[in-house]
Amino acid sequence: MLALVIGSLTLFTIGALLVKFATADGDFTLLFKGRAKRERVEGKVVWITGASRGIGEVLAGQFACLGAKLILSARNVAELERVKIETIGKYPGTNIEILPLDLASGEEALKDAVKKAESLFSASGVDYMVHNAAFERPKRKALDETEEGIQATFNTNVLGTITLTKLLAPFMLKRGGGHFIVMSSAAGKCPAPGQAIYSASKHALNGYFHTLRSELYPEGIKVTVVCPGPIETSITSGAGSSASGSSERRVSSERCAELTIVAATHDLKEAWISYQPVLLVMYLVQYMPTIGFWFMDKIGGNRLEAAKRNGDTYSWKLFFGEKKKTA
Ligand SMILES: NC(=O)c1ccc[n+]([C@@H]2O[C@H](COP(=O)([O-])OP(=O)(O)OC[C@H]3O[C@@H](n4cnc5c(N)ncnc54)[C@H](OP(=O)(O)O)[C@@H]3O)[C@@H](O)[C@H]2O)c1
Repeated sequence: MLALVIGSLTLFTIGALLVKFATADGDFTLLFKGRAKRERVEGKVVWITGASRGIGEVLAGQFACLGAKLILSARNVAELERVKIETIGKYPGTNIEILPLDLASGEEALKDAVKKAESLFSASGVDYMVHNAAFERPKRKALDETEEGIQATFNTNVLGTITLTKLLAPFMLKRGGGHFIVMSSAAGKCPAPGQAIYSASKHALNGYFHTLRSELYPEGIKVTVVCPGPIETSITSGAGSSASGSSERRVSSERCAELTIVAATHDLKEAWISYQPVLLVMYLVQYMPTIGFWFMDKIGGNRLEAAKRNGDTYSWKLFFGEKKKTA
């Protein structure tokens, strides 16, 4: 009788976990953390790059809702002003400063930006640096990528982000603490056929920031690397990060921002945000790489085909080869 009860409970637990995994929109560690800790954010200075649209804009709203003071950066000043006005409209009393910034503008310009950011809000300094800005090109074969495309991607996603970190971290160290939140990607964990250069740039960020944390953690520097799969953003960037016209199933940018703040305020070192099948691929590549890479090798060519006809580039069907749409 006891064996029957234990057996039934075990089967029930396994079943419940499988259902949870099939319907999950993030990794298990993240999903079991619950809500964001307001007390970790309230009154803190949060600097967000790429805040003029997409996930960065939504992050600004959610940090404002939790009582943070915001520094918003991107290149498009008019869009930053719009985000500022709309955020204050939703959360009156929020302190927001705009700091225009081109991540590809070189060390001197970034040094100025860091000095300005540190001097805002009575020079209280930056508590959270959210590295969200990125440049993504339309999907294409790795060997078709141009030199200009490679440089533009690395200048913004990698070199600018790393230089900004190198310039800001000493101020944080002087204060005895600071937290970098890095918006990486599932493409920073797994192969991403059609996005080789973007994937390479995100792998570079993962390598840099996990290493940085391992060096500076004892001195109070925290790093949370967030790896989202496909996310729905309101505006299509034209670079393929949003899939207007395609049937791709994406986590909303509101949920992505919410889980990002949960991950950071619970001090997670890495968090994954995605529906299936991307989440499964991430688990396979991380914990069973031989199977994970075999899976991706089956998918690669089919994904390139799907991207060419603006089809679903995150579908289970890619494993078997999607039927081509007839014109
Ligand atoms: N959307 C997704 O499906 C998805 C999935 C995984 C990971 N992510 C990552 O999540 C982050 C946000 O994605 P998103 O879809 O919201 O992107 P997005 O809509 O394309 O927005 C990118 C942001 O980065 C800024 N930016 C671009 N180049 C810049 C530069 N040189 N200097 C300063 N700012 C620059 C843009 O503003 P300006 O043009 O005004 O400068 C914009 O605010 C990115 O890191 C992306 O890689 C997104």
